[in-house]
Amino acid sequence: MPLSRPVLPGIAYGGDYNPEQWPRDTWREDVRLMREAGVTMVSVGIFSWALIERREGEYDFTWLDEIIDLLHENGIAVDLGTPTASPPAWFFAAHPDARVVTREGTVLGFGSRGMVSHSAPAYREAIVRIASALADRYGAHPAVVMWHVHNEYGAPVGEDYSEHAVRAFRGWLRERYRTLDALNDAWGTAFWGQHYEEWDHIGAPAAAASIVNPGQRLDFMRFTDHQLRACFIAERDAIRARAEQPVTTNFMANQHWSTDLWAWAREVDVVANDHYLWAADEDAHIGLAIAADLSRSVGGGEPWILMEHSTSAVNWQSRNLAKRPGEMARNSLAHVARGSDAVLFFQWRAGRAGAEKFHSAMLPHAGTESRIWREVVALGADVERLAAVRGSRVAAEVAILWDFESFWAQDLEWRPTEDLSHRERIRAFYERLWHDGITVDFAQPGQNLDRYRLVLAPAQYLLTSEDAADLTRYVEAGGTLVVSYFSAVVDEHDRVHEGGFLAPLREALGVDVEEFLPLRDGAEADVEFRGTRIRADHWQEALRLRGAEPVGAYIDGPAAGSAAITRNRRGEGVGWYISTRLDAEGLRAVMADVYADAGVAPAGTPDGLEVVRRVTDTTTFVFAINHRDQDAELALTGRELLRGGRAEGRITIPAGAVAVVELDDPQEP
Ligand code: GLA
Repeated sequence: MPLSRPVLPGIAYGGDYNPEQWPRDTWREDVRLMREAGVTMVSVGIFSWALIERREGEYDFTWLDEIIDLLHENGIAVDLGTPTASPPAWFFAAHPDARVVTREGTVLGFGSRGMVSHSAPAYREAIVRIASALADRYGAHPAVVMWHVHNEYGAPVGEDYSEHAVRAFRGWLRERYRTLDALNDAWGTAFWGQHYEEWDHIGAPAAAASIVNPGQRLDFMRFTDHQLRACFIAERDAIRARAEQPVTTNFMANQHWSTDLWAWAREVDVVANDHYLWAADEDAHIGLAIAADLSRSVGGGEPWILMEHSTSAVNWQSRNLAKRPGEMARNSLAHVARGSDAVLFFQWRAGRAGAEKFHSAMLPHAGTESRIWREVVALGADVERLAAVRGSRVAAEVAILWDFESFWAQDLEWRPTEDLSHRERIRAFYERLWHDGITVDFAQPGQNLDRYRLVLAPAQYLLTSEDAADLTRYVEAGGTLVVSYFSAVVDEHDRVHEGGFLAPLREALGVDVEEFLPLRDGAEADVEFRGTRIRADHWQEALRLRGAEPVGAYIDGPAAGSAAITRNRRGEGVGWYISTRLDAEGLRAVMADVYADAGVAPAGTPDGLEVVRRVTDTTTFVFAINHRDQDAELALTGRELLRGGRAEGRITIPAGAVAVVELDDPQEP
């Protein structure tokens, strides 16, 4: 549900703040330094349950009262956490049955976080109690501008195989299927003798002798997501009954896949997202752009909140690279460019104790005589200069389908080859568009796609017949659709479509798939496309043309001599099918033709200069983020918001720097 009013007047700046880890003297230093850095909002109390409810039903709000008042006196707003990601020791002592059981049967212990069963009745009661107590006490506090329920639902564990979960799973299945006949049919239980005669015989898909029924596993993922969301909704509603501030929880778009963010975004008042660079990825800023675009898209294009990112290194990857000078600002402002109305970090002050002591912070262990601190102060000033950007939106003409259920299904075992990766294909297509300067939304199958000139389905393994019919109508009405291999293979129960692979898209694409032809590890099988040789590997398909024109043919491999890439005119539009894994150059060649069909034009900006627009009815803000080692030029005219001054027809963005220009003519292309 989109937020009807802004959380803060400008772009929020700050981060997670854990005052309970520090003595009172440090609090006073904290707020002084927060003011120096231009901090406007901090998230408090996210892991504080044990220090707020010290024994069941015994609350101690003194320290929280004090810090919230101190922040308020200093003009710093509070995003108040509910601490339910980390129940206290007394809770587990009283309710040992509320611990998570893993798929292999291990009962998870205390001393970490996130190890509670979301189906345990005692947990459900306790979270409503603590959320209600907090909302009763702080719902009217002028410092509190937002509620931060829980922390990163689904991480570090989502799935739970405890007795509570099994019982709840049966209830969820009864609601979904009503009859055992319907369940037996959906799960295909005639296979391997899995037929059920009693609901009570159905369990969670725990580790078994061989692979477990894929329909059961897929439903268990849906159930898990549903249980997590039910916990959020219970807390949210307890808060809403007592307070009026917007309620959110922090997502992990493009980092964690166990929650269906399309469904979650409908439950929050404003989308909030956490994002951390993947250090092993040399182009991690492209992964960042995907996460930001997905955060915006699940919220229907509304501005969202970057709830966490890092000033420098994280501490949980195998090699935690420090950010280079300027990189933090490029990251932060790229999120803003793609729709965030906040720049928030994990965390304000680096912690001395505990598992995250090597994680970076706004205020590092080295103190204020440090590069990180100087960059944090400079970024705070930049964020303040962007106040006018708040509330503006990002416009895109191209959509990429992103479907969590399809990803869950594809990731199950015993697929035709281990080389199939939805993440890799989505990233490959997205990367092409990123390099071409084309802004992308993500879309859910079944949503209205009419406003997009071009829709890409790089990894739509699970596609329902209804959603396929929508895509066919989209093409018939004039859209351009590109579908990549191993798509439209199964229905919502992971059963192969009647009529075979790709059958539901046969009309839109003019082709279907007779047989999958995966390749040996490392084998390449190139394609001739419009007279040139382009590279492909991992996968081929034997296609049956049903009216499509073959525009690329396999040169080698088991499908040598037959069609690899097809183009189909259907109604007013065009459907493309790419039946193999093209490399980046191959995608460049094919996408050039696709753009021509769709009437989409690459931006023509220097490669490595990320240019994104945020618009209102009357204003256009152009964000230009230079990821290159050299300066870059961009043609435009307007007021530069970060460094001041004007761009008269052209602006130079120094290597590694960012410029934000408010155009004189908002319509300037
Ligand atoms: C997550 C959590 C934070 C912190 C950071 C560290 O995003 O929400 O509490 O652990 O990771 O990167």
